[in-house]
Amino acid sequence: MAQKIKLGILGGGGDSLIGVLHRVASAMHDQYEIVGGVFNPVFEENIGFAEKLGIRTDRIYKDFDTFVEEETKRPEEERIQVVSVLTPNFLHFPMAKKLIENRFHVICEKPLTTTLDEAFVLESALEKSKTVFAVTYTYTGYPMVRQMREMIQSGVIGDIQKVDVQYYQGWINPVLQDKELRKTIWRLDPEKAGISCCVGDIGTHAFNMAEYLTGMEVETILADLNTRYDDNALDVDGTILIRFSKHVKGVIRSSQIATGEENGLAVKIYGTKGGFNWEQENPNVLYHLTDDKPVQVLKPGHAYNGAVSLDGTKLPPGHPEGIFDSMGNIYYGVAKAIRGLDYDTGEYPNINDGVRGMKFIEKCVESHKKGNVWLDL
Ligand SMILES: NC(=O)c1ccc[n+]([C@@H]2O[C@H](COP(=O)([O-])OP(=O)(O)OC[C@H]3O[C@@H](n4cnc5c(N)ncnc54)[C@H](O)[C@@H]3O)[C@@H](O)[C@H]2O)c1
Repeated sequence: MAQKIKLGILGGGGDSLIGVLHRVASAMHDQYEIVGGVFNPVFEENIGFAEKLGIRTDRIYKDFDTFVEEETKRPEEERIQVVSVLTPNFLHFPMAKKLIENRFHVICEKPLTTTLDEAFVLESALEKSKTVFAVTYTYTGYPMVRQMREMIQSGVIGDIQKVDVQYYQGWINPVLQDKELRKTIWRLDPEKAGISCCVGDIGTHAFNMAEYLTGMEVETILADLNTRYDDNALDVDGTILIRFSKHVKGVIRSSQIATGEENGLAVKIYGTKGGFNWEQENPNVLYHLTDDKPVQVLKPGHAYNGAVSLDGTKLPPGHPEGIFDSMGNIYYGVAKAIRGLDYDTGEYPNINDGVRGMKFIEKCVESHKKGNVWLDL
């Protein structure tokens, strides 16, 4: 039996939002074992959390630099092979850079970095290292998203003519209205989040979805962002017009002040022969629209789905796939790449997706600041 891939985790402690998603995802296809990491900056909490998870504590380190120093001393066959970076945004770059330089494979949370220049540095470091690097745009792992991509690529809806991706959340609304509380949120702090809150946090998911599904690159954008209050530095809402080409256009609507909304990512893509509608909160249903037939409902696990979609479906139809499965499928794609096996490029988002995401964030902020002007990506 193939040996499990040795996984280290940075961030994602018991107090975090995203840690559990990555831990469960790494276990899902029986490819990885978590052997060490730095879950928290406070060592006692870090050790306590590892004990709670039942992970041996001899490879739980006091900080990131010690992690790299100690792991690189180990013989190749013992060493942690891939590291998940699940910290707040400002730590992604220094961690990922040092990991690449020390030849670890990396699974990095989005946004890739806090600036585009940093993203370019990672890109060129990877050209030298040739190691595997994934950026967890989680929603690309859903079976019906993968199915939609495959059907678009095989021409089922014809030539794309309109793309509308909406990502609406409401969680910042009550936080934002409390001046003291809002100072405690790292996503609203430029030092920790970078130049954007909403576009960086969720607009970038919507942008990635638009490019992942259509297989096309957005050429120009015009952004209108809203910080809501003068003393709040970062955007909490943004509407972005996108153009893929002269006659292929669309819109990305992202908001964290869409009061009462939960995780409302919704995709609508229309082509000359048909369209697709898909919603993250109901991810097992893909609606296929045409001019002349009743709407078709596609679901995971059926033989009519393509190979990449079916590869990520573990149980027979009718057993709902969720966000854990979606991230699990991305981890599975990364495992194939680390093992040198064949995989489809749609199986995990890579450094190019991360760099594109950073371009999008920087250009949105620039477009807004310049008075809502069109900018090339
Ligand atoms: N892919 C997605 O859908 C998705 C969803 C949520 C968050 N994210 C991304 O994941 C990252 C983390 O977000 P979150 O919501 O889990 O944040 P969080 O604040 O809930 O958790 C951050 C974790 O990092 C730990 N940490 C902080 N500094 C550290 C250090 N120096 N060393 C080790 N650990 C450290 C904290 O103790 C905490 O456990 C962000 O970049 C965010 O954009 C992605």
